[in-house]
Amino acid sequence: MDTVHAFDAYGTLFDVHSAVAAHAAEVGPEARRLSELWRSRQLEYTWVLNGIGAYRDFEVLTREALDYAAAAVGGVDAALKARLLGAYAELAAFPDVRPALEAAKGRGEGLLVFSNATPAMLDRAIRAAGLSGLFDGVLSVDTVGAYKPTPAAYGLLDPWRGRTLRFYSSNRWDVAGAVATGIDTIWVNRTGAADEYPTYPPAAVARDLGEALHPPPA
Ligand code: LAC
Repeated sequence: MDTVHAFDAYGTLFDVHSAVAAHAAEVGPEARRLSELWRSRQLEYTWVLNGIGAYRDFEVLTREALDYAAAAVGGVDAALKARLLGAYAELAAFPDVRPALEAAKGRGEGLLVFSNATPAMLDRAIRAAGLSGLFDGVLSVDTVGAYKPTPAAYGLLDPWRGRTLRFYSSNRWDVAGAVATGIDTIWVNRTGAADEYPTYPPAAVARDLGEALHPPPA
């Protein structure tokens, strides 16, 4: 296994907005804003804890971020919040994910997940999305107690640095963090977002994993 591909989970393999989307009618007109706030606060809490030098796991932060987002949009009842958290535990994978991973696996390439989420969250999400059996390893920052983009978090990829290691993330700040530690990183720009962090540019940009793992000939 000379080539190893490591994938960020949320936003890259799994569609974080699929949880609210599955309950959009119950949430009402604020559904989109709820979903955006939920994700943005979940991430912000990881960065703030990194800054403080503290750590609480991603499941707790995901719950607290939903509490904040729900309050900010005028309230969501407890039963619906519980359903949203249940849906978040079993997010849909983007449709390009499975075929791209199967093709890479078929070529004998190694596949890793590298995420802020806890091992339990990742195991459940991988199973629910029908991706069981594809990965050679699931790396969680929970084992080092520090979130991306701390160098300690990317250190989880150190055992694979002797091979052709590529990291894939849809989160541009995560790309910056990986590039800062010398990892060859592809930005999976699913939403056509504007580029940022020019000091830490990706090795390549792709629209989805199909393109990222099978770049068109130049
Ligand atoms: C993850 C977050 C950053 O999966 O989306 O690590």
